[in-house]
Amino acid sequence: MSKSENRKGFTSKLGVILATVGTAVGLGNIWRFPYIVGENGGGAFLIIYFFCLLFLGLPVVLAEFTVGRRAQSNAVDAYKKFSNHPIWSRIGYLGVLAGFLIMGYYAVVVGWTIDYLYEAIVGNLQGHTPEAYTQLFAELSGDTIYPILLVIGVMGLTCYIISQGVQSGIEKVSRFLMPMLFLLMLGLAGYALSLDGAYEGLHFLFYPDFSDVTARTFLDAMGQCFFSLSLGMGCLTTYASYFKKDVNLPKTAVQVISIDTLVAIIAGVIIFPAVFSFGVEPTQGPGLVYVVLPNVFQKMLGGQILAIMFYALLFIAALTSIMSLLEVVTAYVHEKFNLSRTKSAIVVTILVIIMAIFASLSCGAMPELSLFGKNIFDIFDFISATILLPLGGMAISIYAGWIIDNKILYAEFAKNNKYSLNLFKAYAFILKYIAPVCILIVFIGSFI
Ligand code: PHE
Repeated sequence: MSKSENRKGFTSKLGVILATVGTAVGLGNIWRFPYIVGENGGGAFLIIYFFCLLFLGLPVVLAEFTVGRRAQSNAVDAYKKFSNHPIWSRIGYLGVLAGFLIMGYYAVVVGWTIDYLYEAIVGNLQGHTPEAYTQLFAELSGDTIYPILLVIGVMGLTCYIISQGVQSGIEKVSRFLMPMLFLLMLGLAGYALSLDGAYEGLHFLFYPDFSDVTARTFLDAMGQCFFSLSLGMGCLTTYASYFKKDVNLPKTAVQVISIDTLVAIIAGVIIFPAVFSFGVEPTQGPGLVYVVLPNVFQKMLGGQILAIMFYALLFIAALTSIMSLLEVVTAYVHEKFNLSRTKSAIVVTILVIIMAIFASLSCGAMPELSLFGKNIFDIFDFISATILLPLGGMAISIYAGWIIDNKILYAEFAKNNKYSLNLFKAYAFILKYIAPVCILIVFIGSFI
């Protein structure tokens, strides 16, 4: 990213929030959150997730905002600004690697979303049995060429947008689409609550049954927290470099986290009543949203239109997220190898497509593409979301807590607000001690 682009920035506070919500709200909320909750036994997971948001998510979001706005540069350079020790530039590199791996499978899922949008438009999503929807999804994800063509389309579009320099694009698109996504989700949740399985679904989502909780539940909750908030890989650092000086960072962090979490919970409120009404297993895994939601839509008045809108908005929510992922890696390649922005975006896109081909084929066409019983798709997800992002988060919290001067941390925290000094002290304490130690314990615990 050139310096002049850095100076442009988001135009208003609302733009800041909606664009940041744009990167945060994506497949992580609507596709990943419900199935992770499903696999981890529901309500008890939710409580652990809230603790992760409070003690890890919030302080690390604030730390990324602080580094980004203060450094006014891309993620890799930003982490070199406050210390000469080369180890800290690794935070940026870790982010670049995580960005690659996430895009490697994220693009596949966005491709599936495009297909579902198409199927909804031509009316193919209406009038099937629940088994037929399971079959439809298995055929799509297990196909060889078609999902790869979709990936090429998705990445081509994302590459085009990024090569154009998208800051005002992101802001404009987010401003328009995020409230629409929100309204539509509320409507769908209202409908889901009127289904026969509503009580059972809500019970599953909100009743904390701790008997299913294992060390792995904590690892999954932590990974989901980082993934959903686009946290631990420099994405928010990059976005914060476009924040104006008067943006109230703690308030913005709380707003973004609240909206992101609300969207995820509403997705759960839509999906779990439907899961229990249509007899689909809540532990369905990544196919949950593609198998369950068509069942809901086909029963609804005007269901086809709603399906079209839902998959269109899911696609757009995912697009604003994958754009931010491509941006982080492209910015690095652009600077490091002195390539033009467009060429950098193309090189990164080609590499992402190659990775996505493996991820896609491992979902059915070539199941032998697996390691330790997980296919490549799941491995990309596991390494990035569950390992690299929390690891990045740990490094960022240590960096902000121990390396950055407390005065700088406070100056960024206190801009345009009068929050008490004690609040700042609690935040700095969490960054220094609680967040890194918690992440370490969860890691060690789950690997033992
Ligand atoms: N937060 C995005 C989502 O929920 C995914 C993402 C992760 C985007 C990391 C950027 C960086 O879909």
